[in-house]
Amino acid sequence: MLWGDGVAKLRPVKVLVTGSSGLIGSEAVRHFDGEGHAVFGMDNNMRREFFGPAGDTRWVQQMLQQQCPHFTHLEMDIRDRPRVFELFKRECFDLVVHCAAQPSHDKAREIPLVDFEVNALGTLNLLEATRQHSPEAVFIFMSTNKVYGDAPNEIPLRELPTRWDYARPEDYNGVREDCRIDRSLHSVFGASKTAADIMAQEYGRYFGLKVGIFRGGCLTGENHSGVQLHGFLSYLLKVAEAGGTYTIFGYKGKQVRDQIHSVDVISAFVEFARNPRPGEVYNLGGGRANSASILECLDKIEALLGKRVARNYVDQPRLGDHICYISDLRKFKSHYPNWRLQWSLDQILERMARSAPS
Ligand SMILES: NC(=O)c1ccc[n+]([C@@H]2O[C@H](COP(=O)([O-])OP(=O)(O)OC[C@H]3O[C@@H](n4cnc5c(N)ncnc54)[C@H](O)[C@@H]3O)[C@@H](O)[C@H]2O)c1
Repeated sequence: MLWGDGVAKLRPVKVLVTGSSGLIGSEAVRHFDGEGHAVFGMDNNMRREFFGPAGDTRWVQQMLQQQCPHFTHLEMDIRDRPRVFELFKRECFDLVVHCAAQPSHDKAREIPLVDFEVNALGTLNLLEATRQHSPEAVFIFMSTNKVYGDAPNEIPLRELPTRWDYARPEDYNGVREDCRIDRSLHSVFGASKTAADIMAQEYGRYFGLKVGIFRGGCLTGENHSGVQLHGFLSYLLKVAEAGGTYTIFGYKGKQVRDQIHSVDVISAFVEFARNPRPGEVYNLGGGRANSASILECLDKIEALLGKRVARNYVDQPRLGDHICYISDLRKFKSHYPNWRLQWSLDQILERMARSAPS
């Protein structure tokens, strides 16, 4: 039991966070460290290898090491099965929050083997190590809405002045978890994450591990090392602050994303960890309230910074890109009625703009 009867906090537990220097991983470290738990973070700064110096996450690692007294950084690769198993044998974890990944749709086409090794095999290493050495642990897997491929693009849309939106009232809340995941165009990244997503479900359903699968919409926050190929809002703000030009790819810039702050992602993990439902899948994004098109985000950022952002339009959408993606949050909310979004899109933008280097 991770949750003591009637107490407001998790009892002290041992937590492993993979991808601990990344956006979601670092938020998880901060949260669980702040609650007094022993937190181990596994990260090898592979984001720099994927995206170059702008993707370097060492600054986040250093910040965590300075600010989080219960945090231990492990310079490890999730693909290194012997070391992963050794670690699990040594430390018995109560909670595993798995966020390490090759996270980019577009990058994966250049490196399909590495992408699969990190996203699919790396996840399997962690699931199996958990099964063998920490079978009572809660295991949280950060999946993605790209597991649906481009199937969400089949939902009838209508064009509004600044965004695409769903045409039918029954689609108003967005994409549900019963959207099909096969017979669609995923991108190489979407396919490797789908393999991991299905395997994570299997470890929940077949082996009975306490695995929760969270299919992320657009996850964001000030600790993102945003680059053009990943980290939409963080990158957009960086370009705007630096007075650069932002390139929009297709769909007239009216493509819609739902933004959720990393703090709200972690509070969803905490709810699941208190009362896990093995093998369950949830969509997790900002939902209808935090949805906006690229054009709308640009407008908001211009108003916030008081300056115009130069735009370049390429009339070719990214392959398999969603035209309008809003996460239907009703399943998660019905299973975990205490959870609610704390951060609106405007608050997220203000918070990110405040923390951006000037
Ligand atoms: N950010 C989003 O918009 C978004 C949306 C949907 C799903 N997701 C998923 O959420 C998870 C976290 O995303 P994020 O935005 O925090 O990503 P991120 O790139 O900010 O963080 C991932 C971290 O994992 C590390 N890493 C990569 N490969 C590794 C390896 N082999 N061994 C150890 N560490 C490794 C990287 O160095 C990086 O610090 C990922 O699984 C991603 O696919 C993210």
